[in-house]
This record gives sequence, C-alpha cells and structure tokens, in this order.
Amino acid sequence: MGEINNVVLLDPDLGMFDSIRDMGYSVENAIADLIDNSLAAKSTQIHVDIVFDEANSYIRIEDNGTGMDRERLNDALRFGKKIKPIRDSDDLGRFGLGLKTASLSQGKRLSVKTIINKKEEIGVWDTDFVNNIAKRWAIKTQPFESTIDILKPKILHESGTIIVIEILDKLLNEKAEDSDLFYKKIDAVGDHLSLIFHRYIQGYLVEKTDLFYQGNQLKPIDPFAFSKITIKGESKYYNNSVVVKAYILPHESKMSKTDIKKASLENGFTLNQGFYLYRTNRLIVCGGWLNMGDDMKSHEQTKLCRIMVDIPNKWDDVWGIDVKKSKAIIPNSIYSDVEKIVKNAYESSKNRYLHRTKRKIGSTDSYAWIWEARNSVKGKIYKINKKHPLIEQILEMEEKKDVVGLNKLLIGLIDHIEINLPITEIISDGAMNKADLSDKIEDNKERLKKVKANFIKKLLDQGKSEEYINNLLNDSDLKN
Ligand SMILES: Nc1ncnc2c1ncn2[C@@H]1O[C@H](COP(=O)(O)OP(=O)(O)OP(=O)(O)O)[C@@H](O)[C@H]1O
Ligand SMILES: [Mg+2]
Repeated sequence: MGEINNVVLLDPDLGMFDSIRDMGYSVENAIADLIDNSLAAKSTQIHVDIVFDEANSYIRIEDNGTGMDRERLNDALRFGKKIKPIRDSDDLGRFGLGLKTASLSQGKRLSVKTIINKKEEIGVWDTDFVNNIAKRWAIKTQPFESTIDILKPKILHESGTIIVIEILDKLLNEKAEDSDLFYKKIDAVGDHLSLIFHRYIQGYLVEKTDLFYQGNQLKPIDPFAFSKITIKGESKYYNNSVVVKAYILPHESKMSKTDIKKASLENGFTLNQGFYLYRTNRLIVCGGWLNMGDDMKSHEQTKLCRIMVDIPNKWDDVWGIDVKKSKAIIPNSIYSDVEKIVKNAYESSKNRYLHRTKRKIGSTDSYAWIWEARNSVKGKIYKINKKHPLIEQILEMEEKKDVVGLNKLLIGLIDHIEINLPITEIISDGAMNKADLSDKIEDNKERLKKVKANFIKKLLDQGKSEEYINNLLNDSDLKN
C-alpha cells in the first residue's frame, strides 16, 4: 500500500458481475455498441444475426476488422480497461465497458473469437462459471461445446472478430418457446441500425462499411435526406469541431409518399422532430428536444424541425455521453447560443405548418372547401361549408324534385366529407391545447341533443314504435 495509511480495501464483490447486466440496454442499443467496436477496428464488413432456437437462441456479430492478439483480447474483456491513453479521433468507444456490458445485458454468456495473423484466440465470460465455478472475475479461454459451431467464421478474411451472446434471458424471458414474441422484440433492430449508422453505410464523411442484418445488406436511413429540405441556421463551436445545423422539412402535403414514410420511421413523424446528434458520425440521439425547457416540446405543429449536431469524441465529457451511447446534454458554455438557433427553427417550422393549414382551410377563397375552420370564442371550430357547390346543387335538385339526381349527389357529398376530413389541421389545433378540445366536445353535445330530438320526431311521424326508436338509438352514436 506504500505510504497510504488508514484505509480498508474494498474490491468489488462478485455480486457486481450480475448487477452490471442490468444497465438497461435495449437490444438495438446493445448491438449498436458492439458494431461501434467493429467500426473502431476498421471493419469494412459487419454481419449481425439474431437466431431463434428456443433456449439455444443467440446473437452473433462477425467483422473483418483488425482482430486482437491474446494480450489485447484479455484487455478487451477486462471491465473498464483503458487500452490507449488518448483515443483515435475515429474511435467510437469511451469507457472500456461496452463489449462486456452490452453483451451481458442481453445474455448470460459472451464468447469472443478473434483472429489476427491467422492465429485465433478465444475468451468467454459466463455468469454461471464466474459465480459458481471460478468464484472470481475470470474468463475461460475455451468455448463451451454448444458455441463451437456458432463461432466458426462465415466470411473469408485474414483478421476479424466474432462475438456470440447466448442464454438470452432478456429476449426469451420465461417464454423460451415463443418465437413470435422473440421476433417482435427484435423487429425494430434493422431499421434502427440503418438509421444510426447511416453515414457508415453510405460512406459519407467516413470509410464505407457494408452492414448486414439477418443476411440482408442494410440500406441507409438518413434523417436529413428529404427533397426540398431547407437549412434555417448554422453555427460552429469549439474551434469549429462542433457543428449545429437547423433544418426544416417540407410540409407533408409537398412530400412524396416515400419521404413521409421515412419521416415517420421508428417513433412516428411527430416524435422524430428535434435533435439528431452525431458523435464521430454515429447517431447517439434520434429526435426529441434534449430537455430544452417547456416551450420546446414535440408538437404536431413543430414536427418539420430537425437539428443536426456533429461532435467529435474528444468532447464526450462536456456532452455527457453515457455508457449506452444513447444520451447527451448540451454543454452550458454554448447552451444559450444553440437555444437561439434552435428556437428560431422551431418557430419557423410552426409557421410553415400553420401557413399551409390556413391557406387550405378558412381563407377568403375557401368557398370550394367542404370543411371550414371558423374562429369562435372557444377557439377554432370545424364546420361543413353550406355554400359548397355540391350542397348548392343538392338544394337545387330538391327544389326540382329530382330524386335520382339528389340520391347520387348525396352519396357523393358524404364521400367528399369523409375523404376531406381535416385530420391534420384538427390535430395541429388541438395538439397545442387540450382544454380547447374538451370545450369543443361540450359544444357538440348541445348540438347533438337537437339533432337527436329531430331524428326521433321524424321516426315517430313515420309511425315507428317507441321501443323500436329506443333500441335504434341505444345502438348508435346518438345514444347520449
Ligand atoms: N470487434 C472488435 N475488434 C477489435 N477489437 C475490439 C472489438 N471489440 C472490442 N475490441 C477491443 O476491446 C476494447 C474494449 O471494448 P469495449 O467496447 O468494452 O470498450 P470501448 O469500446 O473501449 O469503450 P466503450 O465502453 O465506450 O464501448 C476496445 O477498445 C477494443 O480495443
Ligand atoms: Mg466499445
């Protein structure tokens, strides 16, 4: 202990090995963390497979990167080992933990086979072996019998690494035989990888890497690749190494179907607004407003706004990058400047959205729109435009007693009302203020009473019995 006195040594207990497994990785974050390692090892091909075989299901990642010698593999499997004092600028790692924490968060056994200069090395962390056999922090250097075949290389390469995670207790839970549930849990993994590694898949700003998932080569999902996207502001910080760019997407009505689908991927269009933070070209944050306060939340009206932030790994600590590489915070020193750019874009996005809405509904030349938006003391209300040409024609037919023409027009009008229901506008008006919505519902109740009374009177005039009418109403939207 040298000159240090009055101390008690408290090395971590074995119990910590199990606790590390509960760091809260999702399956896609765990796999992304392992892909980070493959990319940092200069791989140009990475294959990810998740195989269901009841209790023998496994996750397998194979790359053609640099591989590791024995000493390097031992260091790689040691928790928290700092392999280099200063990381390369393209190294996606930070803590010396990901390989172990990400893998063991998904399964109880991690086997690594790595090849360098045609020499193979193996290392295995196994919870049962650690807790009950070795009873210490120890890896095995031979694979378990069941893993031998899975560890056989599938792609031809001089060097590379294969990671196999087995005993997938988190994915299988207590229902190891339920393949539907298993595949449901991994459903989103492919799209997530296509999104967060899109620059690597594209070879944009970085060396191109072919990424395969379940045997298929992944295509990039670039959250900024929309035709007619506009830039609304840009700023650089920390000697130009951090770049913030604010973008506004075109209004939905001007987007192609493919673009709308892309804008809605993963969390849906509305939740996909906000920050997209790239750390060393890999996405860490995909949407959301990074706690920028109550005036900056995800609303329908602001969904066109996306902020691209690029940071290098040397600023990890100021940006609060976490072990799972899924969180970041805007540093205090640049917060107010970033806030200005972002708020400006946020407001522009709102205006672009509302401008489209106003032009479409409620403008002075809106006589041909079937739905009208009118301002009332309680906010906006939506009504059918009684001066719409279709309605005027119906009134004319009624005067002329043209029953056939009237029937046809009525059906046409109902179709027209259904097709043009102004859902986007109603959501956009209501999304900002829920109280407004409940007011409108109260209003409707009063009107509904009148419609109901009229309806009952007509049925009574037709000679229908009260019992018949009550049954009919009880089973209809006129019930209350
Ligand atoms: N696929 C791989 N190919 C080559 N070396 C690897 C591979 N995976 C891991 N390593 C080595 O193992 C080390 C430890 O990896 P690990 O993911 O645990 O930590 P890290 O990447 O350094 O940091 P972080 O915890 O932020 O991921 C890496 O720094 C790298 O040297
Ligand atoms: Mg790592």
